[in-house]
Amino acid sequence: MHIVFAASECVPFAKTGGLADVVGALPPELVKLGHEVTVYLPLYASVRPHLSGEWKYAVRSITIPFESYNRFVGIVDGGLRNGVRYYFVDCPELFDRQELYGTKTGEYSDNAERFGLFCRAVLEASKQLGVPQIFHVHDWQAALIPVYLRTVYYFDPMLSGAGVVLTIHNAGYQGWFPPVTTERLLFPWDIFTMDRVEHFDTFNFLKGGLVYSDILTTVSRKYAEEIQTPEFGNQLDGVLRKRKADLRGILNGVDYSLWDPATDGKLSAHYSPANLAGKVECRDDLLHAFGFDHVADTTPILGIVSRFATQKGFDMLAQIADQLMSRDVAVVVLGSGEPYYENFFKDWMFRNPGRVGAQFRYDEALAHKIEAGADMFLMPSRYEPCGLNQIYSLKYGTVPVVRATGGLDDTIEEWNEEQGTGTGFKFYGYSASDLLAAVDRALTVFKDKESWKKLMLNGMAQNYSWERPAKEYSDVYDEVARRRG
Ligand code: ADP
Ligand code: GLC
Repeated sequence: MHIVFAASECVPFAKTGGLADVVGALPPELVKLGHEVTVYLPLYASVRPHLSGEWKYAVRSITIPFESYNRFVGIVDGGLRNGVRYYFVDCPELFDRQELYGTKTGEYSDNAERFGLFCRAVLEASKQLGVPQIFHVHDWQAALIPVYLRTVYYFDPMLSGAGVVLTIHNAGYQGWFPPVTTERLLFPWDIFTMDRVEHFDTFNFLKGGLVYSDILTTVSRKYAEEIQTPEFGNQLDGVLRKRKADLRGILNGVDYSLWDPATDGKLSAHYSPANLAGKVECRDDLLHAFGFDHVADTTPILGIVSRFATQKGFDMLAQIADQLMSRDVAVVVLGSGEPYYENFFKDWMFRNPGRVGAQFRYDEALAHKIEAGADMFLMPSRYEPCGLNQIYSLKYGTVPVVRATGGLDDTIEEWNEEQGTGTGFKFYGYSASDLLAAVDRALTVFKDKESWKKLMLNGMAQNYSWERPAKEYSDVYDEVARRRG
């Protein structure tokens, strides 16, 4: 089957979070199953270094009309990589920027136009380069593809047979814009109703996608249930309950060609379940990266790699920050995002020099070093659709301490001392004291070297490769094709 992926992020071209890892890793796995896969991505500034020599245009100019003017978009051929075809939507005035969605001062004010244009460009380009059986679109940035397809393009004979699968990576980000977006993007006003794209008097990209796609998926089974409740649905729970029969939870895989301590090129040493010696070297390397000179060998290191957003639950950590410092533990943090959380980590670091270290930037190599060099990995998320870092941690023998929500609950099993089973520590309530209790359980087991080793090895033995989820997506594509055919 021919599948077109449309997304706003994809490793190695553009990344702010796990969406990029998924869109980078799933297509090659689908190719292994015999599918033909094409990935469309906006041509951001970060894509440029990946395009060597003179750009090859697959399509020189596509006209994308807006309310009172046209834009002209090129489709740059990114070539075949691991059997996957990449096309970049070139519209420099909208995409040739350093950031994907906005700067520290806020979201880009033209995001509706940027991603509206992206969606329309994917449909127009595929008419020239190959209409797939399935458009697999990801998150709000690509969610207008089904909306265009089933409204403005309804009578297009080339497109009418195509099905759409929408994957929700995060229902907290929906793309809310003013009502006038309807006519700016040239939609008929009759879609601006409560059962279509209107949402509390905004034009809601994700809601449109939820209404007009054939099948919806999200990235863990637990999150598929959670988003149908008011607590996690971000006000889309009603729409999601309506579409319950078409909603599937497919847990993400991870790309072990990039995330395996036995081969990871970003580490100072390698290790595996059979030989853990290299992990000690990785620990030293990590302490060095944070300038920690006096952390004893017996002191566990707690690692964090994260976007700083309310979703990630660091407000709970702030409440127990001082209590945690009364324990024997060092903390290393890599992340960036909302200033509130950066300020908290900065302040915590300044008050605990040599024990708490925080670096505020996006740094791929350091993320790998933390996965390898830390003893425990902390993800106290308020909600977590899937979460990839805890799955990476398992492979790196770095024991996850997580809140039991979404994919965190699906992937981490609580350690059971008597039976020697389990892979980490988890807590349920959104409560700082429950978080502290989970960390304390981890610190207690850490002191017992034998139990801790068993716990590490349990995690390292888990297999979350993409093979199984790719097969599940393939079944979903078949189902959509059957319905459409
Ligand atoms: P989310 O997509 O919600 O941010 P995930 O756990 O699914 O959460 O994925 C996060 C991805 O982004 C992981 O690959 C993680 O290593 C990476 N990441 C997050 N913050 C940083 C950072 N500051 N530097 C490098 N990588 C980061
Ligand atoms: C989102 C979610 C994260 C998930 C990722 C990839 O960014 O926040 O939990 O792992 O998408 O699906």
